[in-house]
Amino acid sequence: MGNQGLSDLPMKLKLPLQQTFARSPIEKVLAKRRSVRSYSEKEFTERDAARFLWAAQGISSAEGFRTAPSAGAFYPLEIRLIAGKVQGLESGVYRYLPNDAALLQELKGDFRADLSKAALFQPQILNAPANLLISAIYPRITSKYLKRGIRYTHMEAGHAAQNVCLLAADLGFGTCPIGAFEDEEVQKILKLPINDAPLYILPLGRV
Ligand SMILES: Cc1cc2nc3c(=O)[nH]c(=O)nc-3n(C[C@H](O)[C@H](O)[C@H](O)COP(=O)(O)O)c2cc1C
Repeated sequence: MGNQGLSDLPMKLKLPLQQTFARSPIEKVLAKRRSVRSYSEKEFTERDAARFLWAAQGISSAEGFRTAPSAGAFYPLEIRLIAGKVQGLESGVYRYLPNDAALLQELKGDFRADLSKAALFQPQILNAPANLLISAIYPRITSKYLKRGIRYTHMEAGHAAQNVCLLAADLGFGTCPIGAFEDEEVQKILKLPINDAPLYILPLGRV
């Protein structure tokens, strides 16, 4: 214990004013990030999609580590691209394969309206040219960490989603993390495997 009496506490320490810092690029992006729920008609290309997929779960080291941290590097997350109007890509549902930097087409067609309906008709899903879905295969991580692996997975989904949000803010795109949807409906619409649990939808489009 210090020699300061308890009656002197709590003490509020004013921090140096943020505005006076010379902001680093990442601080500027952090300050700019907002949830954006309407998007322009400007084109959204396969290359744009590739950048956001990489931000979410791309490989960023020779050892195979990814852009988002993962407890024990078990990588329980899957990322799907729900392409509506993506230049250079047929409308459909694609699963991202991080190790191959590739997409695996799982479904053909435009699923945005159905997905929006499953998410309380949130219009941003329908209006965005593309959406990302973050889902989780829990056994990949609960086999090691048991119940706690579920908590770790949700934390990891937050990391991956934030990467997408920050890249969007930096590149002039908008996104909004969406957690309000019917899990079973989303699973049915996108024909997800039974052990693949949807966690987050991220609509993407230019601001
Ligand atoms: C777990 C989670 C779930 C969310 N779900 C939705 C959602 O379903 N629909 C929506 O429009 N925004 C959703 N949001 C975005 C919040 O509404 C938004 O982050 C909040 O209003 C603060 O605004 P900001 O993101 O611009 O700072 C969600 C955010 C989080 C973290």
